[in-house]
Amino acid sequence: MNDSIVCLDIGTSVVRAVIGDFNENNVLQITGTGQCATSGLRNGLIVNIEETTRAIRTAIEAVEMVSGYEVSECVASIGGAHIAGLNSKGFLTLPSLGGGDKRMREVTQHDVERVIQSANWMQPPPDRQILHVIPQSYIVDGQGGIKNPVNMIGTHLEAAVHIITAAITPLQNIQRCISRAGYTLAANGVMLKTLAATQAVMTDEELELGSILIDLGGGTTDVLVLYDGAPICTASLPYGGIGVTNDIAVVKGISFDTAERIKLSSGSCWGEFLDEEADVIIPGVGGGRPPESVSRLELCGIIRPQVENILEMVRREVYRLSSVDSLSGNIVLVGGGALMQGVVELTQEVFNTSSVRVGYPRNFGGVVEEYRSPVFAAAAGLFYDAMDKRKNQETAVSGKRPVWTIGEKISKVFREFF
Ligand SMILES: Nc1ncnc2c1ncn2[C@@H]1O[C@H](COP(=O)(O)OP(=O)(O)OP(=O)(O)O)[C@@H](O)[C@H]1O
Ligand SMILES: [Mg+2]
Repeated sequence: MNDSIVCLDIGTSVVRAVIGDFNENNVLQITGTGQCATSGLRNGLIVNIEETTRAIRTAIEAVEMVSGYEVSECVASIGGAHIAGLNSKGFLTLPSLGGGDKRMREVTQHDVERVIQSANWMQPPPDRQILHVIPQSYIVDGQGGIKNPVNMIGTHLEAAVHIITAAITPLQNIQRCISRAGYTLAANGVMLKTLAATQAVMTDEELELGSILIDLGGGTTDVLVLYDGAPICTASLPYGGIGVTNDIAVVKGISFDTAERIKLSSGSCWGEFLDEEADVIIPGVGGGRPPESVSRLELCGIIRPQVENILEMVRREVYRLSSVDSLSGNIVLVGGGALMQGVVELTQEVFNTSSVRVGYPRNFGGVVEEYRSPVFAAAAGLFYDAMDKRKNQETAVSGKRPVWTIGEKISKVFREFF
């Protein structure tokens, strides 16, 4: 694979791939993107291996064409309702210096890994696998809120962690599709898609202040709540933009493809700025029913209830699982639904806040621009994470202490399921 990494976001509507490397100045750059529409998934889960394999192969071939790389190894995202997150705590008595010396000593990187491990005392059921164990903060001898305890002096070390688990079957299906497509899934190569997206679109300030990432996909709406630089809860709803298109198709008696085309060209979920002029043409069916003109406002009347319902469910879920009062960052929207006209305004109304924005992946350099869209947030985040880990591995070899980004925080110890 040379220095390049191909990152796959296997979505319900579209498989997206991003490839890149470090340029000659050791700066990250994305050198190619590719995508392929798919019908191989339902609500974020692979239900048709052949079709998903085909879409993966096509997306990677597109990336190879653009970048000129020959791909062999991939990393991939995962999401869906089978994902679960829980908060846990670990505790470690720091062994004193040897040889009868009872003095306190400095916390080492090894201590940090052990205390994280001790937080993971629960065995997941046999059909589930731990995906990530992410440290939130540490306490050294009762002093809390510590981000990196290495080199602090103490006798007791505690860690608060967020553990994310996934069902084994969807993980195995991802691996199977990638290998059937002729590629290899990298070791520890699957990442929660919202966690990946966070790394591409959120600022450090948003992570610290407490923010919500909402991925409005085709078949799922996935949510990650972050506070103090780390995830505190995760949620996934089996609803998305496909349901919105279905509503248009059913109400107007047209095909799904026609409804999707009309949604993309004229859809909105916020009626305030729309006029009542009937300028959207709904085609007739065969020689029977004639074409119909509807206004964008009427179309909005079909779209808005479904989008509002999804956002309302997200709000309730976030309230149920976390203390929302403490979040003073932003709600950041990614996925195809983030491109729906009026979605920021509707989210502001549902969450009763003005702090809502669409998450565009930050600039990773290179001449390719397609990834600068909220639909590429997860794939671009996977890329950033993979390159970040590679850089930290190199730093570790060179003996320098790594920087603790959220990606770096994801414990390597527990990401060994294949
Ligand atoms: N400009 C747009 N306006 C409104 N909706 C859009 C727009 N672009 C894409 N969408 C919708 O976004 C949805 C697809 O989003 P996305 O590509 O993020 O999903 P996915 O990653 O394939 O699915 P999932 O993450 O749910 O598994 C589709 O329902 C599509 O109609
Ligand atoms: Mg998606």
